[in-house]
Amino acid sequence: MAHYLIFLGSTRTSTPPSPARLGERVATACKRLLSSLPQTTAEIIDPLALNLNDPFKPHFAYPKADAPEDLAALADKITNADGFVMVSPEYNHSMSPALSHLLNHFGASLFAFKPSAIVTYSMGQWGGARASVSMRAFLSELGCLPVSAMIHIPKAQEALNEDGHFAQDQERWESYFGRTLGQLMWWAEAAASYKEQVDPAKVSPAFKTAPSQRNAPGSENS
Ligand SMILES: Cc1cc2nc3c(=O)[nH]c(=O)nc-3n(C[C@H](O)[C@H](O)[C@H](O)COP(=O)(O)O)c2cc1C
Repeated sequence: MAHYLIFLGSTRTSTPPSPARLGERVATACKRLLSSLPQTTAEIIDPLALNLNDPFKPHFAYPKADAPEDLAALADKITNADGFVMVSPEYNHSMSPALSHLLNHFGASLFAFKPSAIVTYSMGQWGGARASVSMRAFLSELGCLPVSAMIHIPKAQEALNEDGHFAQDQERWESYFGRTLGQLMWWAEAAASYKEQVDPAKVSPAFKTAPSQRNAPGSENS
């Protein structure tokens, strides 16, 4: 059984533009399609269900026993998941601040050596394609390398109903989603089974003390 987390990248409860939080439909569609696959479960991670409004302090900045309960619970879920679906609207040609803020709460070591899939949407005609480009760099740095196929949903308010079903062209949309989700599953299964043979923490131990651990030799004092 493989388990996936779907990160919903919107907290926009106000209008206009209407409808608010179109991302709920997109995340629900991802959950519906992933859960319909054999041996697969999926869960939506909703930033509105977490308390992220205090001054920014990531999960890894707390002594282990003191981390807030909701951050600790999500850290466990990330650790136990096999892969991730990152659902973002396009805001000013970029990924949503709600998604980057949510993900910034967790260290790369929790995401590393598991794949991710990029899903973007917008009310306009580009479906968030411009936002998706920068998401590749962000997710690669987190260690959950994004698969090559991506899902972009233009005019998501017309493409998807509130219950996460496609308003028309159901078969074509499902096959379009299926290509990306199929790649995600392939990499997730490959990573999970190879992990049983080779421990990634031994190949590439997590950097936990200082950002300078990433430096190239000779650049420490610059
Ligand atoms: C601050 C802001 C910036 C936006 N920038 C873009 C944009 O660059 N490209 C685009 O296609 N749509 C843009 N939109 C429209 C969004 O695609 C649309 O509002 C969508 O519903 C946002 O997703 P959400 O409802 O889940 O938050 C923007 C919307 C907001 C609120």
